[in-house]
Amino acid sequence: MKTAFVCQNCGFETGRWLGRCPSCGQWNTMVEEERVVKKTARNQRVRGVLGPTRPVKLTEVKSRQNLRQSTGIGELDRVLGGGLVTGSLVLVGGEPGIGKSTLTLQVCDRLARAGARVLYVSGEESAEQLNLRAERLKIDNDKIHLLCAVELDEIVEGANIVEPNLLVIDSVQSVFSARLASAPGSVSQVRECTAELLRLAKTRAITTILIGHVTKYGAIAGPKTLEHMVDTVLYFEGERFQQYRIVRAVKNRFGSTNEIGVFEMGDAGLEEVNNPSQFFLSGRRPGVSGSAVAATLEGTRPLLLEIQALAARTPYALPQRVATGFDGRRLSMLLCVLERRAGVPTTGQDVFLNIAGGLKIQEPAADLAVLAALASSVRNTPVSPDFVLVGEVGLAGEVRSVSRIETRINEAARLGFGKVILPRRNLTKKIKSDAGIELSAVDTARQALEMLGVS
Ligand code: TYD
Ligand code: MG
Repeated sequence: MKTAFVCQNCGFETGRWLGRCPSCGQWNTMVEEERVVKKTARNQRVRGVLGPTRPVKLTEVKSRQNLRQSTGIGELDRVLGGGLVTGSLVLVGGEPGIGKSTLTLQVCDRLARAGARVLYVSGEESAEQLNLRAERLKIDNDKIHLLCAVELDEIVEGANIVEPNLLVIDSVQSVFSARLASAPGSVSQVRECTAELLRLAKTRAITTILIGHVTKYGAIAGPKTLEHMVDTVLYFEGERFQQYRIVRAVKNRFGSTNEIGVFEMGDAGLEEVNNPSQFFLSGRRPGVSGSAVAATLEGTRPLLLEIQALAARTPYALPQRVATGFDGRRLSMLLCVLERRAGVPTTGQDVFLNIAGGLKIQEPAADLAVLAALASSVRNTPVSPDFVLVGEVGLAGEVRSVSRIETRINEAARLGFGKVILPRRNLTKKIKSDAGIELSAVDTARQALEMLGVS
């Protein structure tokens, strides 16, 4: 029997034990697993499933109609790119208790109501527990079948009996194949079982949702191997202790990535938040220094977010700089720009930056609002609550243009803001004439801070 050492974090394989995985850099993740060399070559397994086995002209390939099915949950459809594609494999990841099973069961209900047969395979919770959740969600549908199983063959057999349109595996880490010698939950097992489920999904056009736990490293166990096998990867973001949940598409073969759906955990499961900008701004207190509103983009959707900053003279030799929901290094750079280019002193100050609502901002278009919040706190002067800021800030203190400015301006106008400060290069004639809101173009961060009275 051949064995290999497999990294439990990223799936990297080597012939000998290593303390540190050379692929992902994690320590102590190598575990010896038996390798099963099967007779069927790996690349033959899904042969013929995805399309013709002979070369054909691209123009001859007809896209199938009604391939996409709405989940009946608008925010989720948006993340999926319009709905679940028949026969696709969707991986839903997130921390324990964040709502993966809840959301998936809600999807089962909606699809079952639309006539789909559903098989929910639970490897973690008992039938009673599942029923309790279903009762809580007021789900009572005889098209939903339940199977408490962890062995792959049992699951495939269950699928043969029910012939479902939608198959849910809760969770993929609990599934194992008795034909493989490695331990349940190990990377080899998860990978092999996923490959088998992929084959099932593609050959029988069964839409499959795999629920996956996130490891302590913040990724789904065997993430790289799983992520490239499935069609779509959705991650839950947000804190379990906060009521809102964000579902983000990190990979999507059938839609754009980075699209987010915003939900609120309520008594009857996850409810859609239809106006996320308003939701994220709802806790704002006007007249307090250190707060500014940024117009960001999440996928294709504009989102207004409150940036909060707090600066205070540090009692220590080394000041603290703590960012929540924002890149720490970018904060350091912006603090330096603030001092050197805009003349607002930040040396010797503890600085805390927070994106209210707990969202993580990845795009640099929020830079200008971050600077405004920081300057406002240092100067202890509130920014007028009527302003929204957009713009990337460079090392020279210049304000650089951002993408899709109209979308951001429209969102600010829709939420009743009066003024938008934006990069000069973004202010074209057309944008000026179309905007139903006052626009102020700036070349430098200093100009923006002067405009706000916090320079
Ligand atoms: P769950 O979906 O089981 O999380 P996961 O499958 O990701 O581990 O449930 C998440 C939490 O949500 C759980 O602590 C209970 C809570 N919850 C509600 O607040 N309202 C509800 O209607 C339901 C079903 C769960
Ligand atoms: Mg669960």
